[in-house]
Amino acid sequence: MTSAASHRAPSSTRPRVVLGVSGGIAAYKAVELLRLLTESGHDVRVVPTRAALEFVGAPTWAALSGKPVSAEVWDDVQDVPHVRLGQQADLVVVAPATADLLAKAATGQADDLLTSTLLTTTAPVLFAPAMHTEMWQHPATQENVATLRRRGSFVLDPAVGRLTGADTGPGRLPEPEQLLAACLRLLARRGVDRADLRGRHVVVSAGGTREHLDPVRFLGNRSSGRQGYALATTALARGAEVTLVSANVALPDPAGAKVVRVVSADQMRTAVLNAAATADAVVMAAAVADFRPAQQLDTKIKKTAGEPAPVTLVRNRDILAELSAPRRTGQVVVGFAAETGDQTGDVLTHGRAKLAGKGADLLVVNEVGHDRGFEGPDNAGVIIGTDGTEVDVPQGPKEALADAVWDLVAKRLPEPPGDTAVHRLDG
Ligand code: CTP
Repeated sequence: MTSAASHRAPSSTRPRVVLGVSGGIAAYKAVELLRLLTESGHDVRVVPTRAALEFVGAPTWAALSGKPVSAEVWDDVQDVPHVRLGQQADLVVVAPATADLLAKAATGQADDLLTSTLLTTTAPVLFAPAMHTEMWQHPATQENVATLRRRGSFVLDPAVGRLTGADTGPGRLPEPEQLLAACLRLLARRGVDRADLRGRHVVVSAGGTREHLDPVRFLGNRSSGRQGYALATTALARGAEVTLVSANVALPDPAGAKVVRVVSADQMRTAVLNAAATADAVVMAAAVADFRPAQQLDTKIKKTAGEPAPVTLVRNRDILAELSAPRRTGQVVVGFAAETGDQTGDVLTHGRAKLAGKGADLLVVNEVGHDRGFEGPDNAGVIIGTDGTEVDVPQGPKEALADAVWDLVAKRLPEPPGDTAVHRLDG
């Protein structure tokens, strides 16, 4: 019999993916992910947990991957698989990742082949959690997820929808096509210098400003800060010194970042301009209010018998425009534009006009709606440049969009002074 595997490129030239599968009902969807990965030219080794094999048996994984399958470190010991698989992988993806698997990974346990592989790999690791809503929202799970993200792993938030049984809520495994897209994005960075921002100082703004009317009420927006935090985490992972100017974000601080907390647009302006004075790049991912109430009262506004007084607004300064000119020599400035198309133009037309108006080098344009682009774990966008470049980043983890931004920033940064000095000496 001629197997499909024999028609593929030799396994040594194909990207190596370890597909970890832990014990949840969504393991059946990992079968489809396996098929998509192998059909798109990847060399996939499936490493299920013992519990995963209760849901989908080893013969299914072995037949579709064309490779042996074991949950144990005791099989093929002569090949030292608990070390080798992780070391040789270009990507480790765990789908579904159960609450138990996330807990083990966060605490560094290694009692089977998958958890051992997670401890030995230096490849990017993507977790796609799937579980009941209560388990996902439990503080233990949330802390484990935060720990893994802080260490540089990519953890998708589960999709919202029908779970096992009649209940619905966050906890579903994203669809296999979405998982494939996230894997491809991470694999695309294979072989890239992972510390290409070493020696650089970058400033990232995140979250949404609040413009107070009185001590308890404010005008705000829906930004969760996740995209900005993903930019900070990925820049740290690439060796940068990071100042994160954070407006009203309820996420844990990325380890190693200098976090400056602000509330209003005015405070954000001061903090960003201060930090920008020594920065090589500034990325304005925050949703900054364009207006603030003309009056901000020190005492709570009381309900009165008649009609309320209208609120008068005044304009806030545009931080991005102010940053863009004049600026430090060689500094790269990036903005974000959440847009909705309208009768005057589509999302990209608005984006191009905004890039020109603000004077930034790059603008990440993404389409938002009532249910898109804000609180979720994923984002998509087109990164447009003043030089006419357009890079389309498909829907995937916010970290993937962040990495795409840093790729373009790194390309635009002038050589660090140290390198220039060396060249001069050589010449
Ligand atoms: N921005 C800023 N200062 C402001 C308003 C926005 O620095 N006062 C930055 C944002 O951080 C973002 C970019 O400008 O990087 C685009 O923000 P957006 O709200 O889309 O643009 P606006 O200029 O406010 O235009 P509009 O709301 O009319 O679309």
